[in-house]
This record gives sequence, structure tokens and C-alpha cells, in this order.
Amino acid sequence: MIHILYENAAWLPPLTRALEAKGVPFTAIFVDGGSFDLHAEPAPGIYVNRMSPSAHTRGHGDGVVFLREYLAHLESRGARVVNGSGPFALEVSKVRQHATLEAMGISTPRTIAVAGTRGLKPAARQMGLPFLTKHNMGGKGLGVQLFRDLAAFDSYVDGEEFEPAFDGVTLLQQYVEPRDGYITRIEIVDGRFLYALRASTAGGFELCPSDACQIQDDAFCPVGDSGKFGVSPLTADDPTVLAYIEYCRIHGIDAAGIEFVEDREGRRYTYDINMNTNYNSEVEAVAGVHGMDAWADLCDRLLREQETERLSG
Ligand SMILES: Nc1ncnc2c1ncn2[C@@H]1O[C@H](COP(=O)(O)OP(=O)(O)O)[C@@H](O)[C@H]1O
Ligand SMILES: [Mg+2]
Repeated sequence: MIHILYENAAWLPPLTRALEAKGVPFTAIFVDGGSFDLHAEPAPGIYVNRMSPSAHTRGHGDGVVFLREYLAHLESRGARVVNGSGPFALEVSKVRQHATLEAMGISTPRTIAVAGTRGLKPAARQMGLPFLTKHNMGGKGLGVQLFRDLAAFDSYVDGEEFEPAFDGVTLLQQYVEPRDGYITRIEIVDGRFLYALRASTAGGFELCPSDACQIQDDAFCPVGDSGKFGVSPLTADDPTVLAYIEYCRIHGIDAAGIEFVEDREGRRYTYDINMNTNYNSEVEAVAGVHGMDAWADLCDRLLREQETERLSG
């Protein structure tokens, strides 16, 4: 049995449809908090973490807090979790993402992390202009604002519009002007490159290529903005693709969409890792690859391996 731990019902059907199509048995468990007995054995099967780092924007922030502990509990009892506690610790912290990327020699934009609000203005004076703000724990462009001068930043910090991050950590980050007006997102599942997507930055900073977000008319996923996303010509032998596959291997990440922006000089800066991708069907139709099918294949493989292990005692 596959146990899907999910937070956003709108993002669930593509995965469950893919599992049904392959005949993989599953149960879906809604998580917006919860409790568990530390001495209880988890139900047998494979667990799939589909918690979104933007859960708090839907009133489900306790789900993140719960899963952080619960995934560790499951694993300590020997359960296999897809995108388990290690990957989840990265998912909810851009600071950790950047630190681990840099440790592997993958360049990230210059970034200052600020806990609380008092340090924001002094930190801004350490940054070059332009820079942007973003939330450490984000997704769907939370707290992303571009600043070209310090006065505008100061009044943002003092004003009504300022939105504190869920974990209290705001990042100030070097703005990398995209060379051709788009950013690239590389989709990896189970150690394999699926395809790369490019998103135009013309309309702003938003990037949530999910169909579901577009349907929901989220401010960051505009409906009918179909010209925004396309298939990138990047191929499986691209050095960035290879580096990301290695990154996922080292950190035990089963599935991730990793984003980079290329500057005028052709330097690439990686700035966001997403483990809860909701794949864009228009792009996938063109690419001829379907992310959720790859998730279903992974679940199927893990279940079979578990069964083989059980039979061999
Ligand atoms: N350092 C940067 N330079 C230029 N554009 C950026 C940078 N960081 C983020 N962006 C833009 O903002 C969008 C949202 O930022 P991101 O870090 O991906 O946050 P989220 O986790 O909310 O998706 C990106 O898709 C990109 O278009
Ligand atoms: Mg992003």
C-alpha cells in the first residue's frame, strides 16, 4: 500500500490517477496537523510525502510542523518515505538548499538570511542593488519582491505590505537578470531527467507551473497565461542536469524540480528546489513525458521491492 501524505486536495488527482492507471494500491491521508504515538509501529507500505511548503497559505501550516516530526518517526521505524525527512528539511529551507548546493560547487545567487525583522534594513545595506526578498520557506513566490533602491525597501519593511515568513526567516538575494527573459526548471524523478521547462519572467516573478494553481486563479499562477511556460531545449547530458541528478542522489531526494536563472554572461545560478511539483500538462504534452507517471513507476517499484524483501525474509 502507498500512503500519500498530502496537504492540497487540488494537487492530489494527477498522482492518484497515475497510480490507478498502473494498478498501484494507495490511500490518501490529508495532513494539516495531527498526532501520533511514538511507540506505535507504522502501517506497512511505502509513504509518499506530498506536503507543500506553502501549506500555511491554505491554513495548513501545522501540517508542515507535524510532518517534520512524523517523517522522522516513520523512518526510525524502518519505513521507506518518498521525499522523506532529509529532503523535507531541504524543501522547507532555502537556506539549506543554497548551503548544500554551494557545498557541491553549484552556484547560487548571493543571499543574506535574516531572522525576524530588525535585521532587515542593516542587511539590505550589505547587499548590492537590485536585490529581491523572498521567504526561506516558500513556494508560489511568497514574499518575492524586487528592490532597485533602499528607500523603497525601507518603506516596504515598515509598511502594511510586508508579509513575515512562516518561519520568520526572510532572504535578501542578488537579483540575477535573466539573459533571455526566462528561467529554467529541471524535473528529476527517481534519478532520471524527465524534461526541462522554461518560464517567461516577463509578467513578474511567479513560477508555479501547476495546472491546479492556474485553475485556482492563484495570484502567482495566472489563469490562461499559457504562453508563459514551454519546453526548454536542455537535454539529459547538460552539465546542470547531471549536477542536479547527483545532488538528488547525495541527498536522497526521490523527485524534485530545480530552478536556475542564467545571466548575460551565461552563468547559471540555482535558486529554488521544489519537491512537490505539480506538472504542467501543456508542457508535458509537448515534451511527451509525464511527471506523475514517473512518480507512479517509482511507487510501483518500491512496493515490489518491499514485497520481494518481505518474502525473502
Ligand atoms: N535571484 C533571483 N534572480 C532573479 N529572479 C529570481 C531570483 N530568485 C527568484 N527569482 C524569480 O522569482 C520566482 C520565485 O522565486 P523562488 O525562489 O522560485 O520562490 P518560490 O519557492 O516561492 O517558487 C522565480 O521563479 C524567478 O522567476
Ligand atoms: Mg520557485
